[in-house]
Amino acid sequence: MDIVKVLVTGGAGFIGSHIVDELLQHGHEVTVVDNLSTGQLQNVHPQAKFLKVDIYKDDLNPVFAQGFDIVIHHAAQPNVPRSLKEPIIDAEVNILGTIKLLEACRMHGIKKVIYASSAAVYGTPVKLPIPEEHPLSPLSPYGISKLTPEYYLRVYHEIYGLRYTILRYANIYGPRQNPKGEAGVVAIFVDQFCKGQAPTIFGDGEATRDYVYVGDVAIANRLALTAGDGETLNVATGKKVSVNELVRILLSITKKDILPIHGPVRPGDIVHSTLSNERIRQVLGWEPQVTLEEGLRRTVEWAQAQAALEEV
Ligand SMILES: NC(=O)c1ccc[n+]([C@@H]2O[C@H](COP(=O)([O-])OP(=O)(O)OC[C@H]3O[C@@H](n4cnc5c(N)ncnc54)[C@H](O)[C@@H]3O)[C@@H](O)[C@H]2O)c1
Repeated sequence: MDIVKVLVTGGAGFIGSHIVDELLQHGHEVTVVDNLSTGQLQNVHPQAKFLKVDIYKDDLNPVFAQGFDIVIHHAAQPNVPRSLKEPIIDAEVNILGTIKLLEACRMHGIKKVIYASSAAVYGTPVKLPIPEEHPLSPLSPYGISKLTPEYYLRVYHEIYGLRYTILRYANIYGPRQNPKGEAGVVAIFVDQFCKGQAPTIFGDGEATRDYVYVGDVAIANRLALTAGDGETLNVATGKKVSVNELVRILLSITKKDILPIHGPVRPGDIVHSTLSNERIRQVLGWEPQVTLEEGLRRTVEWAQAQAALEEV
């Protein structure tokens, strides 16, 4: 495959930094823009060019003047509770920031945008596993702010011919996910297990989610460089995993003997969620490679190495 010049927004963050690694491994040229609000410079591969830029506040013209073929867009306010507390900031970054980016793409002749969307666009499932044509009924400002750019992408394609692939992520986990704040349950549990603390399970622990290893998400983005134009695709395993199952696997990996604490069910939490991956299998030939056990083992190893570094 030809070498592609790729701009990765949010490339210092959890998912974006794994995409950067995957692209570099396949010989592509990568530039990262990130304002380091939740991302970290140490996540950025040394072979990638890094620019500290805010996609909403800063002028993007000097960035785009460097010339790119494809933009992979992951910069976002990624936190659902924060979107409820600060809906304007959420909309500024996720909606207006994306429009600014699309304007720059249009003016600088970018060929394609790959956009990180979310299962949050679906809201409460009326069918499981959720297919892409499921009704779109977000339950939070975050869900709305991730969905709105999907419409802009379609319109920019219709009017300006800008190609796109929309990837709707299930629950992504893996190394570099920040356990602080309102991170994913895997990052929080791994951090607690490594510190010997008991995790809190809200409800009876039988609520389920669809957990995808971050390296598999990076592969989906790489495959979308050359396929999936005009498509909206779930990135998911299609499997339901309960919180109790997660705890059981983590206990066995960490060989810890910790009893979780049970708290009340959190209002508004969806009980079961899993997304269909039939379409992405057909369109990109993608399927998850890393089992939950293996992905959790890698995540625990990373967290233990981080903890050892912090002690030095
Ligand atoms: N983690 C998940 O399970 C999940 C699920 C669905 C969708 N997503 C989406 O995937 C993308 C990446 O999420 P993540 O989990 O890696 O989160 P993350 O917080 O690690 O990554 C987001 C990155 O964007 C950067 N950023 C934020 N605002 C910016 C701005 N205004 N200008 C430039 N950079 C900015 C942050 O510094 C960070 O590096 C987001 O778009 C998120 O909505 C994530």
